[in-house]
Amino acid sequence: MIQKINEAVAYIKSGYHSTPEIGIVLGSGLGNFTGEIKVEKEIFYKDIPHFPVSTVEGHSGKLIFGEVSGKKVVAMAGRFHVYEGYEANEIVFPIRVMKYLGISTLLLSNAAGGVNRDFKVGDIMIINDQISQFVPNPLIGKNVPELGPRFPDMSEPFSKRLIEKAKEIAKEKGIDAKSGVYVCVPGPTYETAAEYRMIESIGADAVGMSTVQEVIAAVHMGVTCFAISVITDIAHANTESPITHEEVLIEAKVAEPKLTHIFKELIASI
Ligand code: HPA
Repeated sequence: MIQKINEAVAYIKSGYHSTPEIGIVLGSGLGNFTGEIKVEKEIFYKDIPHFPVSTVEGHSGKLIFGEVSGKKVVAMAGRFHVYEGYEANEIVFPIRVMKYLGISTLLLSNAAGGVNRDFKVGDIMIINDQISQFVPNPLIGKNVPELGPRFPDMSEPFSKRLIEKAKEIAKEKGIDAKSGVYVCVPGPTYETAAEYRMIESIGADAVGMSTVQEVIAAVHMGVTCFAISVITDIAHANTESPITHEEVLIEAKVAEPKLTHIFKELIASI
């Protein structure tokens, strides 16, 4: 594992010489944030040793290096999901590479269904906790002590300090930012009515198909995490309208400026 990470890092460093401080993972339909990056270098996943290659529509599959608010960042345009057939350790491989490139903070975004009855389409939700039990834990298998401990503490997967800061940023801008618990399901099917009832009953506020494994791998390595869900559909047992991926992408685009503002200001404050 460490050798594979080092080979990917060596390849990247042969083409890019600065050290990124902050990693960014952009969700479905939320790739426009890359427009905020003063780009210094782009590297396609397919060129990086051991990197998986992205297959889903709306994900372009490259690492983007540059500056946001005067800070060096590396952004993943395109991420990997359980429903594409990737193993958990493939899904988190880029997170491990970003850590070995130098990041100490990871910002993530995703499109999600709104489970909480107070949420509406177009809302953003600052993730304050996660439920990962429906997808494989990326730390299953022999622990790699160079990465982190066998039994990592998960009492604060998302930095309370960054959550508070993001709430302040949202308030100043008049953005009604919700907060809550994100649950990851494997997909690719959206949920049945019975599954929505289950998801609501276990204490989730939003449901999606990403993020939690990346956060586990980051926390394992001591990386500070912050994440936002964009609510692209209503995930209730009694909703009449079917969900489509196209609708998710459209609604993600509509809400994206709120997310962009918070990420930009948060990066400036780090
Ligand atoms: N369920 C699961 N994943 C999702 C949803 C949803 O309703 N919306 C966007 N991603």
